[in-house]
Amino acid sequence: TNSLLVRENGEHRETEEALRRTQEELIQAAKLAALGQMSAGINHELNQPLAAIRTYADNARLLLEKKRGDEARWNLEQIGQLTGRMAQIITQLKAFARKSSGQAVTVSLPAAIDGALTLLRIDSDQVVRDLPPEELFVLADMVRLEQVLVNLIGNAQQALEGCPNPRIELHAEATDEAVTLTVRDTGPGITPEHLDQVFDPFFSTKEVGQGLGLGLSISYRIIDGFGGSLRAANHADGGALFTVRLPRAHDLQEKSA
Ligand SMILES: Nc1ncnc2c1ncn2[C@@H]1O[C@H](COP(=O)(O)OP(=O)(O)OP(=O)(O)O)[C@@H](O)[C@H]1O
Ligand SMILES: [Mg+2]
Repeated sequence: TNSLLVRENGEHRETEEALRRTQEELIQAAKLAALGQMSAGINHELNQPLAAIRTYADNARLLLEKKRGDEARWNLEQIGQLTGRMAQIITQLKAFARKSSGQAVTVSLPAAIDGALTLLRIDSDQVVRDLPPEELFVLADMVRLEQVLVNLIGNAQQALEGCPNPRIELHAEATDEAVTLTVRDTGPGITPEHLDQVFDPFFSTKEVGQGLGLGLSISYRIIDGFGGSLRAANHADGGALFTVRLPRAHDLQEKSA
């Protein structure tokens, strides 16, 4: 019986390992799907500065021919700034697409929010940020936390389409042990009978091609994996309200991002 137990234990471990691998692959697939959805925006984000760089370069050449050095320098400075911005966008995309270990380390919450907002190319006056003055750190993984935020804020953005007063409110507060971030939008909210289902894989009310219904189920698993929680509700004044709770990190020496 002892050897039977040992064998069953071994099988159990193998099943667990296979499950973990499948989950990793699912997370990676969903991330690539999200990148695909964002690609039109990303194209625009890179093509716009590229076109501007061309114009500035042409101007600088003409101004140099006319020996108007100061004006030429100004044009060259613009090129420098724009290439910096493009590099930043590309760095963020690379980090997002990268496979990550999923190990929880110390991550800056405001940095993760910045990353998600950049990836989504969100109109900044649509977003109200209400974060404490001190930089909050959580125990998570930068890439995965960004992925969760891209999904929550992306859902809010989609819910706000055609809304008269589109607004996304990000509010964070902390106790000694935990950091709570709420993402609220002023859209139509979640139909009450759907509140139990939004975290189910493939549950989506969006049209085919608009959503797979994977974003929230994967986000839930990711946050759960960090020892946190993710909850869905509606705000008393309307709109959806998602609450992310993560263990707070204090040890800055582990800081990864
Ligand atoms: N901010 C929100 N406002 C209203 N409904 C929401 C909001 N966020 C999520 N939902 C509801 O929850 C469903 C599931 O969300 P989820 O992110 O898992 O999938 P999806 O957005 O439909 O597709 P995917 O994320 O795979 O592109 C949505 O289809 C929608 O019905
Ligand atoms: Mg989604």
